[in-house]
Amino acid sequence: MTSPKTRTAIFISGRGSNMMALVEAAKAPDFPAEFVLVVANDPEAPGLQWAAERGIRTFALDHKPFGKDREAHERQIDAALRAEGVEFICLAGYMRVLTPWLVSQWAGKMINIHPALLPEFKGLHTHERALEAGVSEHGASVHWVTPGVDEGEIIAQARVPVFSDDTPERLATRVLAEEHRLYPQALRKALAASK
Ligand code: GAR
Repeated sequence: MTSPKTRTAIFISGRGSNMMALVEAAKAPDFPAEFVLVVANDPEAPGLQWAAERGIRTFALDHKPFGKDREAHERQIDAALRAEGVEFICLAGYMRVLTPWLVSQWAGKMINIHPALLPEFKGLHTHERALEAGVSEHGASVHWVTPGVDEGEIIAQARVPVFSDDTPERLATRVLAEEHRLYPQALRKALAASK
């Protein structure tokens, strides 16, 4: 007998190409997750329409009217996750720092993809910073989400070479292709570890 698939949500803020890679990977019969909800903090996020067209429920809640009360925004998101029976969360280009409250609600059940070889280059503009630092290798990491931003234990990483004529855009494209391979593999590993 196959074990039931873990009801998983994906959080996005924009185009959602990592979301697409996860949804494609989940077509494999043995994939351990089913994607039941896509959450966005921007109702205009292009990835929302892609998900809706594929019959995946979406929940968009603009963070702006909440001002500084990030927890109030997240409490409504959390209610939507509970209503959908979500068991696990993949952050995939969700460009909001989560409050300790939401992180504690989903401890051990939430992972993130970050476009750098953590612990190098936490935060934003990772490709520019990697080029400025003159590294010969760059990449992406999937890690458990903990209260410290980009600090949780690493689940898996993918590496790419950095070339002398790279621009941030070219490097980002090379890393993104690896992200799309990495995230489904890392989710399999995370779910196996969280059982
Ligand atoms: C991805 O490169 C992801 O690693 C990054 O945003 C991009 C989203 O692209 N995430 C972060 O920087 C998180 N701090 P996508 O919407 O096409 O998946």
